[in-house]
Amino acid sequence: MVVLGDNSIITREPRNIQALLATQFDDFSVGAARHAEFGPILGEAIFTLDGPGWEYSRALLRPQFTRSQLTQLQNLEEHLQVMMDCIIEGEATDLQSLFFDLTLDSGTDFLCGESCNALNRRRSSSGKIQQENGDSSDASFANAFATSQKHILYRILLGDLARFWNPQESQDANKFCHNWVDEYVQKALRGSKASERSETGSQDNKSSKYIFLEAIVKETRDPVFIRDSLLNILLAARDTTASLLGWVFYSLVRHPDVEERLRKVILENFGPENEIDSKPITFESLKNCQYLRLILDETLRLYPPVPFNMRMAVRDTTLPVGGGTEQKQPIFISKGQRISYDIYSMHRREDIWGSDANWFRPERWGEKRDKGNFGHFEYLPFNGGPRICIGQQFALTEASYTIVRMFQRFRRFEIAEASEWTKLNLSLTLAVGGKGCNVKCYRN
Ligand code: HEM
Repeated sequence: MVVLGDNSIITREPRNIQALLATQFDDFSVGAARHAEFGPILGEAIFTLDGPGWEYSRALLRPQFTRSQLTQLQNLEEHLQVMMDCIIEGEATDLQSLFFDLTLDSGTDFLCGESCNALNRRRSSSGKIQQENGDSSDASFANAFATSQKHILYRILLGDLARFWNPQESQDANKFCHNWVDEYVQKALRGSKASERSETGSQDNKSSKYIFLEAIVKETRDPVFIRDSLLNILLAARDTTASLLGWVFYSLVRHPDVEERLRKVILENFGPENEIDSKPITFESLKNCQYLRLILDETLRLYPPVPFNMRMAVRDTTLPVGGGTEQKQPIFISKGQRISYDIYSMHRREDIWGSDANWFRPERWGEKRDKGNFGHFEYLPFNGGPRICIGQQFALTEASYTIVRMFQRFRRFEIAEASEWTKLNLSLTLAVGGKGCNVKCYRN
């Protein structure tokens, strides 16, 4: 396709995507484009780098995710309580916007050890409950982060001209976010130095909680690299997980049969909220809740939070399919060529998923399917190959926990808008568009 003179190749062919991401990994990079678009806020870390810089960053960050599992749920519960308090029974509520605040609060808390309290402010501004510990600087972090993300989007839309876009508003927002995170980084660096000096290594309450930042300062003391890493992870984790949750509830209220079956499964597996026979919600019990997993898989198929992506050829090469008169032969790709791969569209191909490819039907994941020779690259919500998402398990756990707790708290969800059309909001992720995910929640 030629857009404004720019030659672009777009594919939704699993074999091509497998080559881009895995079997010909060294022929492609995320390229200078990603750096130009995200660099002003994210700097140099896992998401923006290629080559040895990316390898170093990934090797350092990845192990932290398995170490963090235990406290992830405690951290999340704290913020979920605030979120559920924001829901007024029987009133139409955009659940998606609550999920965006939830993942921002739990993300900042998990990464820096302190939340930016977006939900607390929302709860207090509704006049329901007084503000607890949010202050004005915290409020600004959420706003500044949103502004920084808006300008990333503008740079993406500008394509090759991205590097020329950095207006004052963007610079101010980026600076605010950097300063906000820097404060925690400096605190952690000072703290870890003090604990290195301390021979007793006394434990206080806080040290029993897993804080990503505290773990990272044990590995490196470069303050800019640490700050960039935290912002890279926050950006990768926050909107994606919130969008997934928005789409889950969007789909459930439109499929009462699925909602009812899920409710039954959740109550059997975990029991009602705060009752004697409720069972602990653990990492393992969430993982074993099969039907919940089918719903997540189906939602990620129809509404992948990262619906398309791009790579750039670092040398002359080929992709397996698309050349020749019937487009079944390999196709030549010249050095510097951009290739977009379209996950949204691949996830809806009828030749792969069947004639009901556009329907929300979680049960399909329990059925046998002819996988052809797609090499598992026909389903890619989390990417594949060496750059596969490092937060996949983290995200599935967070989403599962949130869904279970919402079902325990509310006995009924009701659709709160009439439109038959599904509106998409495509910014950095694919979220529910229009007025969001409007739902009425009932405790009885
Ligand atoms: C439903 C939620 C999520 C989805 C759908 C998702 C999807 C993705 C995708 C498609 C990529 C590949 C981007 C690329 O290479 O161009 C990616 C990378 C990444 N994700 Fe996720 N993600 C989710 C949640 C998370 C969470 C919760 C975290 C961290 C806590 C996270 C951290 C990362 C990081 C650091 C990368 C960069 C990996 C690399 O380049 O080596 N993600 N994610």
